[in-house]
Amino acid sequence: MSAIIRCENLVKSYPADTRPVSAVANVNLVVEREDFLVILGHSGSGKTTLLSLIGGLTAPDSGTVLVDGVENWQQGDQALSVMRNSRIGFIFQFASLIPTLTVMENILLPLSFSQRPAGSRDLAEEILAQVGLADKAGSLPAQLSGGQQRRIAIARAFINCPDIILADEPTGDLDEETERDILQLFRRYNKNGVTFIVVTHNSELAASQERARVLMMRQGVLTEQDGEAGVAHA
Ligand SMILES: Nc1ncnc2c1ncn2[C@@H]1O[C@H](COP(=O)(O)OP(=O)(O)O)[C@@H](O)[C@H]1O
Ligand SMILES: [Mg+2]
Repeated sequence: MSAIIRCENLVKSYPADTRPVSAVANVNLVVEREDFLVILGHSGSGKTTLLSLIGGLTAPDSGTVLVDGVENWQQGDQALSVMRNSRIGFIFQFASLIPTLTVMENILLPLSFSQRPAGSRDLAEEILAQVGLADKAGSLPAQLSGGQQRRIAIARAFINCPDIILADEPTGDLDEETERDILQLFRRYNKNGVTFIVVTHNSELAASQERARVLMMRQGVLTEQDGEAGVAHA
């Protein structure tokens, strides 16, 4: 069976005052279905850029990202959007909830870009309960703590029943107990077939997932934990 995600010679730089910043420098990565991949790296190492390249939110300068063998930027904008909306759940580094929408409306929002399946509200309630915020459906984001907002952003990523979750510092604002609950939730989805790519500077997160495959990112370069460059996957 082919890899669910494949990055080949992926390059992305950003213009800067003196010389361009190389955010992602020739990344090669193969992710198999049902992998739980954790990418560790300090701030500025290119983790967020890599995730947005994988998810088709940012176009690479060169190189390719293939999801199930289809190149993100070769299929046209509309097909790419359909792929994103139907297959990928994004947990962004900053919760990015819409302040004027309730918690329930925020969670249902990704479905307004795709066909809304019947029963989606029931599903939203179920996911809301899974993140421990069943009683907050009618609240506005401003009425929630930072950690609660983050949990809503996590819930939102699961509403389209994605088979890939791209998570950017997902446990950023969470207290220890909530972090444990969320990681347990991730494990459960992973066991049920969802592929995870989690980027974080928190090395404890990697240690907590027994079947995680851990990679390191440094200055745009992805390496195995032992520092060997060029990432293959057996
Ligand atoms: N939109 C952007 N414009 C200019 N530079 C950027 C932009 N996004 C990221 N960078 C730069 O690219 C590098 C990698 O950033 P990022 O992917 O956000 O790393 P991380 O998520 O690991 O903190 C950093 O040097 C950052 O300043
Ligand atoms: Mg980041």
